[in-house]
Amino acid sequence: MAAPGPILGLETSCDETAAAVISADGRILSNEIFSQSIHADYGGVVPELASREHAGRLPGIAERAQTTAGIGWDDLAGIAVTAGPGLVGCLLVGVAFARAIARLREIPLIPINHIEAHAHTPAMAANDIEYPYLVLIASGGHSSLVLVERPGQFRSLGETRDDAAGEALDKIGKLLGLSYPAGPEIDRAGEHGNPNAIAFPRARFDDQGFDFSFSGVKTAAALDYRARDFNDNTGISRPDWIASFEAAIVDALLGNLTRAAEAMDIHTVSVAGGVARNRRLRRQLERWAETNNRRAILPAPDLCTDNAAMIAAVGLYRWTPFDDARANIDAVPNWRLGTPLPITP
Ligand code: KG4
Ligand code: ZN
Repeated sequence: MAAPGPILGLETSCDETAAAVISADGRILSNEIFSQSIHADYGGVVPELASREHAGRLPGIAERAQTTAGIGWDDLAGIAVTAGPGLVGCLLVGVAFARAIARLREIPLIPINHIEAHAHTPAMAANDIEYPYLVLIASGGHSSLVLVERPGQFRSLGETRDDAAGEALDKIGKLLGLSYPAGPEIDRAGEHGNPNAIAFPRARFDDQGFDFSFSGVKTAAALDYRARDFNDNTGISRPDWIASFEAAIVDALLGNLTRAAEAMDIHTVSVAGGVARNRRLRRQLERWAETNNRRAILPAPDLCTDNAAMIAAVGLYRWTPFDDARANIDAVPNWRLGTPLPITP
């Protein structure tokens, strides 16, 4: 069913506290994001601190999203909230907040799968998108390749067997002394280096599937870095090293995406998730699409990183009328894409 009015989206699955309002015809009326900086000192997200921050910030951010959009609680046709996957304590903040408001105001509550929202962002970026399309979702927590057959219908083609792509970037960034998250700094530093200076491994599995693996490249890079002397006579500079590492991650990600597009003869390819902001990845995919007569959709960077506009956008097509029993949703930290939300009593 399509929503009859604007939807408020709420996102608290990790370290972004976000709220957004989207109109019934899909326009983003507001998109408020508070990126928690408290984790920088720890080199990674500290779940306990993240949930406390969400609890403190979410009410104000939800209000601000409505003020910016020029609407109030009474104008909302629904509240869409990330119910999983994510950190359980973080998800619970958004879910508890949404449940309370939905009950109090008798507004439909729409539980959203965070990965589905990432997979839907290319359709927000291009409203003339053709189905089916392929989307590579690469972030700090996920690396997956998904075929979107139509809105809300997915086929998962590949997953990471170990680390996520962003996790590998962030961990090696930490070793290099970069601040967390390291992805944006690697992106900037990598621009000035030679991506072919060092041949870091690109994992490929023998089967014909589309799974990813980043633990091999991470270990190889860590060993290389610890042993490397940038003043030796090889002429390899720190920017060369970073560009080579970045290129290995990008090649592994795009290798699977482009191979799947060819094997399944899919015309539209796209990317989502924080790592999809990476400029080398975006350039490389655009170039591939041009030479291979495909359409590449690159959502705006702010729609790639975690945000609530994508949550509200899924809420538009997953909307159902108010039902008291449906307001009893729970946070599901391991909710798998394409499966119904497990019911909890
Ligand atoms: O989607 P996201 O905001 O949160 C998760 O769901 O994890 O993604 C965050 C990840 C981090 O690992 C960060 O280092 C990476 O996205 N990232 C980037 C860039 N901007 C953010 N990686 C490479 N290049 C970038 N420009
Ligand atoms: Zn995400």
